[in-house]
Amino acid sequence: LMKGIILAGGKGTRLYPSTKAVSKQLMPIYDKPMVYYPLATLIEAGIHEILIITTPEDMPLFKSLLGDGSRIGCSFSYVEQPEPNGLAQAFILGKDFIQNDPVALILGDNLFYGTHFIEQLKKHASYDGGMIFASKVSDPHRYGIVQFDANRKAIDIEEKPTHPKSTYAVPGIYFYDNTVVEKAKQLKPSARGELEITDLNRLYMDENRLHVEVLDPGTAWLDTGTIESLMEASQFVQVIQSRQGILIGAIEAAAYHSGAIDKPQLSLLADELEKTVYGTYLKSLISE
Ligand code: TTP
Repeated sequence: LMKGIILAGGKGTRLYPSTKAVSKQLMPIYDKPMVYYPLATLIEAGIHEILIITTPEDMPLFKSLLGDGSRIGCSFSYVEQPEPNGLAQAFILGKDFIQNDPVALILGDNLFYGTHFIEQLKKHASYDGGMIFASKVSDPHRYGIVQFDANRKAIDIEEKPTHPKSTYAVPGIYFYDNTVVEKAKQLKPSARGELEITDLNRLYMDENRLHVEVLDPGTAWLDTGTIESLMEASQFVQVIQSRQGILIGAIEAAAYHSGAIDKPQLSLLADELEKTVYGTYLKSLISE
């Protein structure tokens, strides 16, 4: 069964001073903490056993926000990342959690929205090796960039290239088979001192086992690492929610949709949030 990891450490220096004392992933995006969005994405995709990786300082805050996950029919566990030594370190820190299972990694500051996207995520079960996404961007030098062949196998992947060979960026959600742990252990720190996810992906690519799924054009992918993108993400969520009468990133709703909790359980959770639009929304799902 596929497990999930949320990487929610890092320093968040681009959001200083707001993130000096509090984790970036606990900053609100409109009406809920940032980490809710990637968490809801995993849960909606049917991944209910999730490891949350944070800094030692922030871990108590994440625990008080999310607990052990049982109230939404999930299982959350926690591991510290003492220093931001790179995305691929998640699989070394998460070794005991992963055990013999395949695993998905999502970055704590990435927000995805789209119904077709959830269907795409569910395809992970049918690929052998690794699966990443590719999304067309206008400023490819800012991202990890992937080139792929007609069979959707990755043939080249580069981190923040000066002369990008494609305009497809790799969003912060990745699916791997269980060999990811061994592969992560082989990695050496890059010039910037990090275990790079791009190097990890390259190991799968060298085996011709890195599948690329092009993000459905109707899917919104936002990252929230800068003041501007944080503000834009809040505006995006506000516009969609008020126009469509839905909530994005509601973990209780995701748990309900993916069968982790039933109607009576959802009803109890809605009661706790009674005084908010959030609670009203959860209630509305019960009567649907
Ligand atoms: P970044 O945005 O690259 O780093 P950051 O969050 O520390 O921010 P800044 O550049 O402003 O200092 O990280 C992307 C995501 O991955 C983010 O959610 C934090 C997380 N992350 C870790 O948890 N551990 C790590 O070692 C790294 C590099 C990132």
